[in-house]
Amino acid sequence: MVPLALALDPRSSTPLHRQLYEEIRAAVLGGRLSAGARLPSTRALAADLDISRNTVASAFDQLLAEGYIAGRPGAGTFVAKELPDDLLRVSPRAPAPTGAGAPAPELSRRGRMLAATPVAPAARDGASASAFRPGIPALDAFPRDLWARLAARLYRQSRFDLFSYGDPAGHPPLRRAIAEYLRAARGVNCHWEQVIVTSGSQQALDLAARVLLDPGDTAWVEEPGYFGARGAWMAAGIRCVPVPVDAEGLSLAQGELSAPQARMAYVSPSHQYPLGVTMSLARRMALLAWARRRSAWIAEDDYDSEFRYAGRPLAALQGLDTGGRVIYIGTFSKVLFPALRLGYMVVPAGAMDAFAAARALADRHPPGPSQALVAEFLAEGHFARHIRRMRTLYAERQAALVSAARRECAGLLEVSPADAGMHLVAWLPTGSSDGEASRRAAAAGVSAPPLSAYYHAGAARPGLLLGYSSVNRRKIHEGARRLAAAMIN
Ligand SMILES: Cc1ncc(COP(=O)(O)O)c(C=O)c1O
Repeated sequence: MVPLALALDPRSSTPLHRQLYEEIRAAVLGGRLSAGARLPSTRALAADLDISRNTVASAFDQLLAEGYIAGRPGAGTFVAKELPDDLLRVSPRAPAPTGAGAPAPELSRRGRMLAATPVAPAARDGASASAFRPGIPALDAFPRDLWARLAARLYRQSRFDLFSYGDPAGHPPLRRAIAEYLRAARGVNCHWEQVIVTSGSQQALDLAARVLLDPGDTAWVEEPGYFGARGAWMAAGIRCVPVPVDAEGLSLAQGELSAPQARMAYVSPSHQYPLGVTMSLARRMALLAWARRRSAWIAEDDYDSEFRYAGRPLAALQGLDTGGRVIYIGTFSKVLFPALRLGYMVVPAGAMDAFAAARALADRHPPGPSQALVAEFLAEGHFARHIRRMRTLYAERQAALVSAARRECAGLLEVSPADAGMHLVAWLPTGSSDGEASRRAAAAGVSAPPLSAYYHAGAARPGLLLGYSSVNRRKIHEGARRLAAAMIN
């Protein structure tokens, strides 16, 4: 018989039988009670602990049912020889260490590759609003009251369709609204049934790789380019070959030279990320011809096309495609807000079932209430109005950044206005290190990612990305001053 030092707290809100169960279970898992050890009888333990025998019996029943202890008729109760979660020999009281200090468990090859793949840093407290983090919309100008009213109305309705399991391709009214918007605003050629609502562009990129390519296949990615695309495709086992971007967009000639066997190309033709080049019509036609000739796919990331400040917006590449080779990808992250995690993709009608199945297997479907809210936001005209307001605001913020940077950072940085987007590239003197400049800026509280970080094989010219859309005029001026001071010291 083993002596048991069990600490029960009669004042605790946890019932005594549960406390006893947890104490004995912890003793078994922690090795204080070894396999095969005999436990006191229910009568003895009850007397020992000054609790009722029923309480002890109830704890024993639970431990018996879960396999921690075993009873032999006439012989008493013993700790089980084979423990149910034998591998979980940790004290349930001591929380496992988390973060950098946690011991690394053995990972699969894929797990190790995923761990080594760069991901975008999360926006920490307040960092989204700090100058000059790129890619964040004006969260300070989002119509939160309107959004809250629409949400309250929606949640009060008995819309059980929205609260239950939904269509893996997305809420049909939202898919209809997206198709209508894309046809009118982006010249996308689609029926609403080709639209899939995704968890941002990120999921669309992941689905495109997993449904259309096989592990080991090769794809072209823009150089410099969006690491979200390269990361998602690498995670899907795709060999990503960087293809330089020139003044007309992705260099097809270079792509054919370095990876003629490519089966898919990632492009951001409206506004190349991060350089801001708009793909020329000639390059668009040549890229489409390549895709047809090679039976390859083009993933068109149209992430911020809504924000064009001069000239007419160029229609999407997808609208020029007669061969059904373009997967069009868009997001609400820039027009509404990133945490909404809603985006969309337009896929060839014949591939719809495969995409819907892949989506359902990954995470079933997008969240119903959020989709319905966005559908109403679009249907009631708020979306178009919000884009118009943001276009004006971002043009003002961009102008404020150009003038502040020219005034504060003269001789240190070179910035020019751009026709589109949410960030500018500020060029540094040739031969300087943009990594070093970015580190100094960060130390001064300014977020300005180095252009070299977007290159796979080495940057051509040093520069910093300066996002302006989320930063108000005061912070733009303050940020430019801090940036200049960081670069002079
Ligand atoms: C090129 C590009 N595509 C897409 C996105 C948006 O990603 P998501 O829709 O997953 O938020 C971003 C965001 O920074 C981006 O820079």
